Amino acid sequence: MHKKNHLELRLERCKDILTVFGGEEKDMRLAAESKQYLDFAVLFGNALPVYLEIGCGKGKFIVETAKANPDKNFVACEKISNVIIDACEGALSAGLKNVHFLNCAAEVLEKYFPANSVSGIYLNFSNPLPKEGYKKQRLTHPRFLNIYSRILKDGGEIYQKTDDENFFKFSLESYAAAGYEVSCCDDLAANPVPGDVATEHQLKFMAQGKKIYRIVARCKK
Ligand SMILES: C[S@@+](CC[C@H](N)C(=O)[O-])C[C@H]1O[C@@H](n2cnc3c(N)ncnc32)[C@H](O)[C@@H]1O
Repeated sequence: MHKKNHLELRLERCKDILTVFGGEEKDMRLAAESKQYLDFAVLFGNALPVYLEIGCGKGKFIVETAKANPDKNFVACEKISNVIIDACEGALSAGLKNVHFLNCAAEVLEKYFPANSVSGIYLNFSNPLPKEGYKKQRLTHPRFLNIYSRILKDGGEIYQKTDDENFFKFSLESYAAAGYEVSCCDDLAANPVPGDVATEHQLKFMAQGKKIYRIVARCKK
């Protein structure tokens, strides 16, 4: 992807609402072990519940969701700085106080989130990565569910949307194997969810006439 103009300067302007993984440790497991927990009380100035979006892209979902839910706090994680910058700038210009951005890979979430600290996780149109060789990179692979299970509170939920039937089925199997309580629907348009905010990818897929699958997976401890 072409690097955006003045990216470093633009990231610097967002520093009050953005935490960037320095990448000091190349080994993701080691990186996750050296803790640098986000201090929610300082970031948000309150003790409201925290919701996490993983792979927020350009941020339409998180900005609209944060605007509509002032009684919740949101952290949006995205590994590509060239992409998260649009999300940060969107939140800044909307003047949102209940959203923070985390420029890191999901592999290192436990560096920033203590156990039992997250009330819900959004996985919106995560890359389905159909090739067998990339299976471990899928954000609902058991290695990620293990991370989510630790940072989620008991009863915390994962809200997933995808247009990809195989990824939908793979995710259902992963949640079941990890002991999550699962409910799902295979056509969001036919079963609309009140308050559902469409993402950039969702709008694109809907315009192509694609079905949207949705899963709610509840973490039981
Ligand atoms: C297909 S896009 C979807 C973007 C947005 N959620 C939407 O629905 O429009 C997936 C996003 O997830 C990000 N992503 C993929 N793997 C990730 C990981 N391991 N950690 C953090 N972000 C990741 C990608 O960089 C990309 O921006």
